[in-house]
Amino acid sequence: MRAAPKRHHNFSAGPATLPLTVLEEAQRDLLCLPGAGASILEISHRSAAFGAILDEARDNLRQLLAIPDGYEVLFLQGGASLQFSMVPMSFLRGAAGRSGSADYVVTGSWGAKAVKEARREGEVHLAWSGESEGYRRVPHSGELDLDRNASYLHLTLNETIQGVEFPDPPLDLAANDQLAAATDVALVADCSSNFLSRPLDISRYSMLYAGAQKNAGPAGVTIVIVRRELLERVREGQLHSMLDYRVHAAKGSAYNTPPVFSIYLVLLITRWLRDEMGGLAEMERLNRAKAATLYDCIDGSGGFYSGHAQPASRSRMNIAWTLADPALEGPFLARAAERGLVGLKGHRSVGGLRASIYNAMPRQSIEELAAFMDEFRRSA
Ligand SMILES: Cc1ncc(COP(=O)(O)O)c(C=O)c1O
Repeated sequence: MRAAPKRHHNFSAGPATLPLTVLEEAQRDLLCLPGAGASILEISHRSAAFGAILDEARDNLRQLLAIPDGYEVLFLQGGASLQFSMVPMSFLRGAAGRSGSADYVVTGSWGAKAVKEARREGEVHLAWSGESEGYRRVPHSGELDLDRNASYLHLTLNETIQGVEFPDPPLDLAANDQLAAATDVALVADCSSNFLSRPLDISRYSMLYAGAQKNAGPAGVTIVIVRRELLERVREGQLHSMLDYRVHAAKGSAYNTPPVFSIYLVLLITRWLRDEMGGLAEMERLNRAKAATLYDCIDGSGGFYSGHAQPASRSRMNIAWTLADPALEGPFLARAAERGLVGLKGHRSVGGLRASIYNAMPRQSIEELAAFMDEFRRSA
């Protein structure tokens, strides 16, 4: 038999490292799902076995995130990118009783992409953009230029490319003069790259969405958590069925054939988070410590490395940094790869280096990266 190839320390931004025990379980059960008599890849999405997977995945998310009643949890396709379109198609296009404009806070490349799609559907107002500062921070609530009648306010909780993350809660809207006393601002957030990395107060949001392929599973499924009241704002008859959250909610995320394998892995990951990792508060503690190891290494390098984001806005999931001498980037990546440290090249739009350290990234991999960074600095 062929020997199993050695796994790298994979710092890729997504698809990204998954928990080894989850991969092993999926591998073990791939040929025959216990009780189903066939592979998860072969059974009907209408079967009792898949119905149980869908229900448990949804229930586990509800439990892990303490999602209040009054919210739908949906498993959709099209990635977080399709949400850039579905959100304005549903809540901006002809939204009843609102100003007909949506507020967007842009803290990085993904927020900018969301704006691009929203503009096809209606008027978009930039409540704040970090572009002129090179997307290095999140704004304070008082800096936002907000429309209290906006159809919704859109944020990106963690910008994967620039490594800029909002705290929780992301904003203190009561501290914004334009919003004081406005109680019904629908906060919509893309949390693709920090979903399930820490507890979230879901009740502050009208909607959250996340492509699964960072913290929640493989590519192919997008998780949407949406308040039912928000869905009432969708105008009747204006959306194609596949683009209508209400259709997916009414059909329990099985209106058409759902991405069965991806949802099955989401189930295994939610079990892993609950049973092996001790839930999201514990996950947050671990993630803080893991990120601190790398930021300490950057900050202690005497300027050899510098972090992209301002310290108060630093992401715990995507650590983006540069080398004082950009000519050393190539040798850094090549020597890191010799150690099995891969996926460290920064996104082509910002350059530099980036380590994505989602929930499943083992502490040991981070320590090996930090040790390599120190060694590379000393030998340069
Ligand atoms: C914050 C954020 N939003 C949206 C996306 C787009 O996700 P997808 O590729 O699932 O469409 C990504 C992908 O990396 C992301 O990091």
